[in-house]
Amino acid sequence: MKLYIDTANLEAIREGMKYYPLIGVTTNPTLLSREGGDPVETLKAIRALIGEDRQLHVQVTETEADKMVEEARAIVALLGKNTFIKVPVGEVGLQVTAALAALGIGVTETAIFTAGQALLAARAGASYVAPYVNRLDNILADGVAVVRDIADTFAMHDIDTEVLAASFKSPEQVIRVALAGGHTATLPPDVLKGLLTHPLTGAAIDSFAADWNNAFGGKTLREMLNK
Ligand code: E4P
Repeated sequence: MKLYIDTANLEAIREGMKYYPLIGVTTNPTLLSREGGDPVETLKAIRALIGEDRQLHVQVTETEADKMVEEARAIVALLGKNTFIKVPVGEVGLQVTAALAALGIGVTETAIFTAGQALLAARAGASYVAPYVNRLDNILADGVAVVRDIADTFAMHDIDTEVLAASFKSPEQVIRVALAGGHTATLPPDVLKGLLTHPLTGAAIDSFAADWNNAFGGKTLREMLNK
């Protein structure tokens, strides 16, 4: 399962790109409003930070089809290749998805909560569908099961649209989504870090260092090899 970072915060993106194997950044209107300032400048700065080879997902804010298409074209013109347009699912969303796909613009259908919505989005031409795992879990539904239904449906019918699972609150949700067949997932910075962290890892590394230093007086293997 390939991974994105789900934030518009430049510092979090800089740190994420430095340490983690990420294929891109996903944003949404809420994440951009949280940063304040001029969202166009923020998006330009994110693109400059991640380079042109990583993906950047940006959601349209217009609500009428023609204006959404115009806005999407302007976003892609500004941010270049590997920019994907997030379109909220719905009747207008499907119409816009088909129009953007015909223009060769990649679409991530967002605000997906059912396999039915995902199937329609895929057939309209979306490159990715984004089911919201934690928001489903929060209403006592099963976000992982929805991801599994979508992934199974796509596999069964040779649909090459990918699941970009979104809305995570815990590392456990991420692993359960990976096991359910999610192709990609976008994680907030704290969940990304949570995936890496384990108290036994720190303890293991500390005891390796203590044993080595006790035996070899604090000299590293590099120092011994270079003598
Ligand atoms: C994805 O498309 C959404 O922007 C995002 O992941 C939703 O996450 P939240 O439920 O934590 O707001």
